[in-house]
Amino acid sequence: MLVGRMALGGSFSNPLSNKPAFSSDFCRMFAYLKKKWKVSWPQFALIFSTFALGGSLCAKLGSGLLQLILDEQNWVYWILYVPLITLLWPICVLGISIPLGQFRFFQNYLLRMWKRISGKPVVTRVAIFASGTGSNAETIIRHFKGQKAVEIALIVSNKPGAGVLQIAAAHHIPTWIIDRNTFLNGNGYVDELMAEKIDFIVLAGFLWKLPSALIEAFPRKIVNIHPALLPKYGGKGMYGMHVHKAVLAAGERETGISIHYVDEHYDHGATIFQEKCEIAAEDTPETISKKVQQLEHKHYPAVIEKLLKA
Ligand code: GRF
Repeated sequence: MLVGRMALGGSFSNPLSNKPAFSSDFCRMFAYLKKKWKVSWPQFALIFSTFALGGSLCAKLGSGLLQLILDEQNWVYWILYVPLITLLWPICVLGISIPLGQFRFFQNYLLRMWKRISGKPVVTRVAIFASGTGSNAETIIRHFKGQKAVEIALIVSNKPGAGVLQIAAAHHIPTWIIDRNTFLNGNGYVDELMAEKIDFIVLAGFLWKLPSALIEAFPRKIVNIHPALLPKYGGKGMYGMHVHKAVLAAGERETGISIHYVDEHYDHGATIFQEKCEIAAEDTPETISKKVQQLEHKHYPAVIEKLLKA
């Protein structure tokens, strides 16, 4: 049961409207781009402004530079203008993106463009953050093994003895053990993750709340799985058996899994996917945990794949 869509695919068509068709086409195009870039409307406005200002600056700079060496706009001017503009455009757009706070978006955007132009296959590099046994991490690793478009490039953990580290070693995936202070009060390892060219982050049993710096650097590119039907039984302290015990104590007749985007609060971001299972009279927290884990392993890798292909 898909309860949430990956992004809003808002339709702007209004059969009663007399407005010219092109305005609704523009709205549709904006909604499409917003969905594709996975950004909020305010950020979309800033990105759009960066494109517009960067483009104008580039055109001005290009013609200004050529006027320094050429007296008239003859054919030589136009032959030089096109490659000059092509070179100046990324520089101008990146420059404008800094004061508008969109540097990271454009850095990734230009990198993706460059990969496409240079003909290199586009590989989405995924980091899995996990602190526990890593059964979800393992099903995700196995799911993407052999897929050329997705690479599980890194396992990040805060526990030196976590089972997930052995799983990573068995699959020859690099691991990081992160430090609490650097993570929560420093840069959230954003620079290091960027240096590793990580595109997407999957939380699979990672218990620390993520710092804003990390969430802002990966907008709608961090997902988590929770072993209950959020918004019920989520929040601080609601993990592992605590969740299943609470569900049972409340006399629930069903529970399940929730896959959601991650924001600054525990188990709070927009829901992407939920699936339910029944609770029988004889169920215990342990048997519920097994049912829920089966759902997690069945759906989490598939949902991640769907998100990465969107
Ligand atoms: C899972 O139950 C998941 O829902 C929660 O943490 C648990 C991780 O289990 N976020 P494992 O380490 O993947 O087995």
